[in-house]
Amino acid sequence: MRTARFTLDPAFTIGEVNPRLFGSFVEHLGRCVYTGIFEPGHPAADADGIRQDVLDLVRELGVTAIRYPGGNFVSGYKWEDSVGPAEDRPRRLDLAWHSTETNRFGLSEYIAFLRRIGPQAEPMMAVNLGTRGVAEALELQEYANHPSGTDLSDRRRAHGDKDPYGIRLWCLGNEMDGPWQTGHKTAEEYGRIAAETARAMRQQDPSVELVACGSSGQSMETFAEWEATVLKETYDLVDYISLHAYYEPVDGDLDSFLASAVDMESFIENVVATCDHIGARLKSKKRINLSFDEWNVWYMTRWQEQATTFEQDDWPEAPRLLEDNYSVTDAVVFGSLLIALLRHADRVTVACLAQLVNVIAPIMTEPGGPAWRQTTFFPFAQASRYGRGRVLDVRVDSPTYETSKYGETDLLHATAVRAEDGTVTVFAVNRDRTESLPLDVALNGLDLTRIVEHSVLADADPDARNTLDEPERVAPHPGEGAQLADGRLTAVLEPLSWNMIRLG
Ligand code: AHR
Repeated sequence: MRTARFTLDPAFTIGEVNPRLFGSFVEHLGRCVYTGIFEPGHPAADADGIRQDVLDLVRELGVTAIRYPGGNFVSGYKWEDSVGPAEDRPRRLDLAWHSTETNRFGLSEYIAFLRRIGPQAEPMMAVNLGTRGVAEALELQEYANHPSGTDLSDRRRAHGDKDPYGIRLWCLGNEMDGPWQTGHKTAEEYGRIAAETARAMRQQDPSVELVACGSSGQSMETFAEWEATVLKETYDLVDYISLHAYYEPVDGDLDSFLASAVDMESFIENVVATCDHIGARLKSKKRINLSFDEWNVWYMTRWQEQATTFEQDDWPEAPRLLEDNYSVTDAVVFGSLLIALLRHADRVTVACLAQLVNVIAPIMTEPGGPAWRQTTFFPFAQASRYGRGRVLDVRVDSPTYETSKYGETDLLHATAVRAEDGTVTVFAVNRDRTESLPLDVALNGLDLTRIVEHSVLADADPDARNTLDEPERVAPHPGEGAQLADGRLTAVLEPLSWNMIRLG
C-alpha cells in the first residue's frame, strides 16, 4: 500500500508562528458588517448593535488581527464620514460594491467590536490611497492614535472615545495594481505615494508597522515587477508587502483545485525572492516580511457573472453579495491553504482570512435569525488554537497524483507545530478523492508518548455543507486507529480529508 512519510525533529524548524497569522478581514461589503456583526434590534444584539451570537463564534474561531474597512471599499473611504454621532453620518455611494453605505457602523464601532472580542483581537487599518492621499492618512492616524490636545484627537474624545485606539498595523491602500480598483495606479505611481504616505505616518509615529500593496494575485500581468518597483521606493519605509489569493475549481477540475496550495506556496516563495533581491540590490540588512492579507476559497466566477447583472440605478444597502456556501471539499482546500501559510511562518507573519462574516466567510448569519459555522470554520479554529509555537520543517515523501494545472502533486500536504510545552500538532490533508492515505511519521528527539486527539473533517458526501436549514450537517469527527509506538506515529487519513493529530 502507498504510504506517505515524513520525519519530525526539533532541530529542524521553519520559524515561530506569529499570532497574526490567524487574522481575518471585515470589509464594508454585502452583509459582512450590516446584519453580520452589527444588527441593532436583533434578539442577540447588545445595546450597541453587536450580535453576541456572532461574537461568540468569532472568539471560538480564534481570529487575531482584523483588517478593516476594505478591500476595494477602502479606495473610496472617507474616514471622517464614519465617526461622530451616528445620526449625523452621511450616506454615500460605494462604487466598489455598487451599494449604499450608511456609515451607521464606523471606526469607533470597529474598535468597540475588537475590544469585545478580547485581547487577542488587534486592529489592522487600511488607508485610502485610491481617491485620497498623504494628508487624509495622517488625519486618520491622528484621530485614531494621538492621545489628546490636537484638533483631531480631541474630536475623537468629544465623540466619546477618550482612549486612543492604538492602531499599530496599517495597510497603505488596497490592491492598487488591480484595474478594478478606484484610483488604480501604475507601480511607479503607487510606489511614490506609498513611500510618501509611509514617511509622513512614521514622522507622526515611528512605531507604526506598514504594509505596502503587493500584487492582487500571482497571475497578474505585472506580478513581481510590481513588487520590485514598489519596494525600490519603499524598502526602508515599510515592514510588509501584501499578497492576495483566492482559489476556486475551474471547469470542474477538482484535482487541480485540491492542489491550490501549490500555487499559494510558489506565490509566497516568489515574493520572498523578490523582496530579498531588492534588499540585496539596496545592500540592506532589513528583511521585508509578508502580509498575506486576503486568502480564501472564493467562487469568484459566479460573483463576476452576478456583477454584470447589477441594476445601475439601484444602490442597495447591505445586499447579499459573495455569500459562498462552502462544501467539505472547499474546507479541505482551505485547510491546505492554512498549511501553506504555516509552512512559511518564517516570512508570512501576518495573514487575513477574507472575510469574517457572510462574505466568503466561515461564519454565516440570517437577519433576525441564527448564526452558524461553515465547513471552513473548523480547520481555521483548530489551526488557530493548536498551531501556536514553532513550525517544524516537514519534508514529505508522498505518493503523488496528476493534476492538469500543477502536474505531479503530492497527495499529502502537511505541517507540524511544536508548542512551548513540547506537545506537537500535525495538520495534514489527504488530497486523494477516493482512497485513504496511510501516514507514517518518524519522531526524532521529541518526548511524545501519546495521541491526545485525532480530529478529521471528511464526509461520505464531499459536497455536504452547513446551511440555515441544516447548520450542523458537517463537523469534525474523531479519527480511528492512529497509533504512537517506538517513536513513530502511524495513522490512516480518510479520502479527501483535513486532519489534526495532537501528540502529547
Ligand atoms: O475580499 C473581497 C475583495 O477581494 C476585496 O475587497 C478586494 O481587495 C479583493 O479583490
